Amino acid sequence: MNEFEAPTTTRRSNDIIIYGPDAFAGMRKAGQAAAECLDLLTDFIKPGVTTAEIDALVFHYGEARGYLPACLMYRGFRHSSCTSINHVVCHGIPNDKPLKEGDIVNVDVTFIVDGWHGDSNRMYFVGEVSRKAERLVQVTYESLMRAIAVVKPGATLGDIGAAIQEFAEAQRCSVVRDFCGHGVGRSFHEAPSVLHYGNRGEGTKLQAGMIFTIEPMINLGRPHVKVLSDGWTAVTRDRSLTAQFEHALGVTETGCEVFTLSPGRLDHPPFSTGL
Ligand code: MF3
Ligand code: CO
Ligand code: CO
Repeated sequence: MNEFEAPTTTRRSNDIIIYGPDAFAGMRKAGQAAAECLDLLTDFIKPGVTTAEIDALVFHYGEARGYLPACLMYRGFRHSSCTSINHVVCHGIPNDKPLKEGDIVNVDVTFIVDGWHGDSNRMYFVGEVSRKAERLVQVTYESLMRAIAVVKPGATLGDIGAAIQEFAEAQRCSVVRDFCGHGVGRSFHEAPSVLHYGNRGEGTKLQAGMIFTIEPMINLGRPHVKVLSDGWTAVTRDRSLTAQFEHALGVTETGCEVFTLSPGRLDHPPFSTGL
C-alpha cells in the first residue's frame, strides 16, 4: 500500500467499492437521519398539506442538525426531497397543491452526514385510501423486504431483481424498468446499478462491504413510464397507480445491515387488509 491507494478499510471489486467498518458506522448515522426524518412525516402528512410543506420540513430537519439534503441542487433539482403522488413513479417536484383524501404519496430523502449519504423513501396514505391503493403499497413494501432477505455474500444482483419481479408479477403488478437502485456511500449514486427485475443466479456476486440501495417502483398497470417536460417528474404512461419503497443497506458476512430502518417502526403505513 502506498499513499495513492485507498485507506485499508476501502477496496474495490472492479468498480464497486468494498467499504469497511468506518463506512458502515457513517452510513448507519446517515441512514438513521433519513429514517428519523421520514418518521416525522408520518403524522404530518394529511389532507390539505402541500408537498412544498413536506419539503420544508425535510429541509429544516437537516438544517437543525447540520445535514445537507443531497437532492438540493443535485443536477439542478431545487428541492430537499422528491414527493411523488399517485401515478407519479418517482422524482416528483414539491409544489403548493394540497394533498387530498385518498392520495398515496412517496417521500424520498437523502441526507449527507459526515460525507455519507443516507437515502431512503417510503409511502404515506393521505387519510383513507382505496383498497387497491393499499394493496399496491403493501405489495411494493413486501417486494422490497423479499429482496432484502436474499442479500448475503455469494448471492447475485439477479437474485435481488428476481425476488422483486417474481413476487410483484405474481400479485398482478408490474416492475418499472427505467429506474434502479444504486451503490451509495461517499457519493449519492455509484456502482452497481441494482435492477428490480432479473434472473436468479445472474449478475454481479455480492460481497461483504458492498453498500447500495434497493428501491423498487411497482405499478398496478403496465410498467412503462415517461418523464414530464419539467425534466424530472416520471409518471406511469397508462396513468395507473404506482408505489415505491427504498432502503440503503450494507452487505455483511452473514446477510446485510439495513441502515434506514425506521427508529419509530413506521417503515410502512398501517395495512388493514391482506394482500
Ligand atoms: N433519492 C433518489 C434516489 O433514490 C434520487 C433523487 S435525485 C433528485 O436515488 F435530484 F431528484 F433529488
Ligand atoms: Co436511491
Ligand atoms: Co432515494
